[in-house]
Amino acid sequence: MKLIIANWKMNPDNSLEAKELFRFFDDIESDNEVVICPPFAFLGLAPERTVLGGQNCFWKKEGSFTGEVSPLMLKDMGCRYVIIGHSERRDIFGENNEIINKKIKAVLEAGIIPILCVGEKKGDNANRVVVRQLEKGLEGIDSSNVIIAYEPVWAIGTGDFCSPEKADEIRKIIKEKVKSKILYGGSVNSKNVKSYIDKGFDGVLVGGASLKKEEFVSLVKNA
Ligand code: PGA
Repeated sequence: MKLIIANWKMNPDNSLEAKELFRFFDDIESDNEVVICPPFAFLGLAPERTVLGGQNCFWKKEGSFTGEVSPLMLKDMGCRYVIIGHSERRDIFGENNEIINKKIKAVLEAGIIPILCVGEKKGDNANRVVVRQLEKGLEGIDSSNVIIAYEPVWAIGTGDFCSPEKADEIRKIIKEKVKSKILYGGSVNSKNVKSYIDKGFDGVLVGGASLKKEEFVSLVKNA
């Protein structure tokens, strides 16, 4: 069983459309586990059997932290997973490896499964960046409880996906460091998804294609 994580990011911009997407994806028949990560505001709109994930959370359980959401709240809303350290969180919201490490610990304590995103920017040494993100992000954590998503930043939302061969090189490096399941993310679509699975990835993290009804259904079927 492969894991297909749909990261809707801050989309769609209204609840009617969110409901329509949920309803459409509720009908997908697949042996793979499909996880929908909608914006927090739409978590409560998901049909009963949708497997849900959060896109982020804070590391505290509750308290005076305006605008934040705790792992326990996500769990209470039915989330089984939560994405931590997505490159947009790192780049736009200034999350560093120390913050990400605290979040992963809090998520595990709450009993949900963290999906840690790692990946290099264009021009970076991929090995070095990924290994550092893993070492710092997972300090003091049993990696077998965490899922890793390798997402080269330059491949996210660009259509310029990482070749399966190159991605596999990094997958092997990650595999030497952790006991986690490993996903690929970055411009995954219905046509390229199988090539990552065939290389040995345990699933994919999908952004743009997870908002297109027919395309996402084909992607899940082709995985
Ligand atoms: P993309 O996004 O599939 O649109 O490249 C992936 C992600 O941001 O997780």
